[in-house]
Amino acid sequence: MRMYDLIHKKKEGKALTAEEIDFFVKGVTSGEIPDSQTAALLMAICLKNMDDREATDLTLSMLASGESADLSAIPGIKADKHSTGGVGDSTTPVVIPTVAACGLKVAKMSGRALGHTGGTIDKLESVPGTRTELSTEEFAEIVNSVGAAVVAQTGTLCPADKKLYALRDFTATVENNALIASSIMSKKLASSADVIMLDVKYGSGAFIKDPEDAMELARLMVRIGEGAGRRVGAIISSMDVPLGRAVGNALEMYEAADILCGKAPEDKLQVCVALCAGMLTLAGIAKGEEAKKMIAEKLESGEAFNKLSEMLEAQGGDTTELRNPAKRRYAPYKMELKAGECGYIYSMNTEEIGLCEGMLGSSRTSLDGSVDFLAGLEIIKKTGDKVSPDDTVIILHTSDEKLLMPAAERLKKAICYSAEKPVLPPVIYGTVGI
Ligand code: URA
Repeated sequence: MRMYDLIHKKKEGKALTAEEIDFFVKGVTSGEIPDSQTAALLMAICLKNMDDREATDLTLSMLASGESADLSAIPGIKADKHSTGGVGDSTTPVVIPTVAACGLKVAKMSGRALGHTGGTIDKLESVPGTRTELSTEEFAEIVNSVGAAVVAQTGTLCPADKKLYALRDFTATVENNALIASSIMSKKLASSADVIMLDVKYGSGAFIKDPEDAMELARLMVRIGEGAGRRVGAIISSMDVPLGRAVGNALEMYEAADILCGKAPEDKLQVCVALCAGMLTLAGIAKGEEAKKMIAEKLESGEAFNKLSEMLEAQGGDTTELRNPAKRRYAPYKMELKAGECGYIYSMNTEEIGLCEGMLGSSRTSLDGSVDFLAGLEIIKKTGDKVSPDDTVIILHTSDEKLLMPAAERLKKAICYSAEKPVLPPVIYGTVGI
């Protein structure tokens, strides 16, 4: 078999066989296929697409490229959740403890920030002392005793995705449903959970801009997961504006703690409740109104918040700041971005907002670099809000003063104003499999 022939075949729009896909994935993993040929095939896939069968075969070959997590020490049904990536999208620290308080065990594997989107591991590590690199035994022990734990994905799971993702990022070949579905589902299948709940984002801050494309992606991922014997569901939710009010690692953890204590921005609460309800439904614990009632009880009673504290403390975290708003640390430098106009916020380019968060110190400049956990943005006004020129729209936070001005200049250009109130997209566009 020759890589040249596979590229040529896909360039002509023909479907690759399972053997051809496996040859490609094995060659990428071993390093035998040069990046130039891998990139050429990725571009041909982006332009000519893959059908469902090819996407499934690609997922299974990527899954087989590495190890799968061993969760055999955790009895019963184990759940995981995954978002396709967004800005201010920290639903995990709300959803995981809430469903754990409802009796569902959560064994979650997460990643770090990617492109303009944030990463759960960075957010959790902003809580002082929190460890996310746990041994299999320690991970199982915490899930068994607390009900939930979150670990950083190891390099031994899906090494093919590691290589392909870096190359896709470099060659503008991220945005393709078959490539996104295989990348996410190979990692989720390798994490070995029985229940997989997906949050597929659409809009200006998501990898997929159009809601119908996001719906298609969700259907594809659910089919792939179900074909592998897992219970999979998805919500399709808007990322046309940052979710909630906080964008930044520590800021998002503070917001998550506040949501669990009853102070929730409406949009983020809606997404969190839908994800919790989906997980409880897939696990067979409760569905519909019964699930929603159970979730509300766990939030109102403080059990969900206690579960978050218990989980973080079991992972070495000091939760003083989460429990005590007066003790929270904030970055030393702040700047208020004023509207400077009268009218309504018509749109917010959420990808740009995510990139500005990165400019303030939240994103890595090298793969093993550190991040400024305190950097970020407080979104005071959002799309659809009425503003006067002196109103603060966003507060920028950073530990490095010289980063403020360039980020503020870029942010200004990311926000459009109008005299008319815009029509807002629904927070949740649809669901699949639940
Ligand atoms: N997240 C992933 O892990 N992979 C993608 O391709 C897109 C988002």
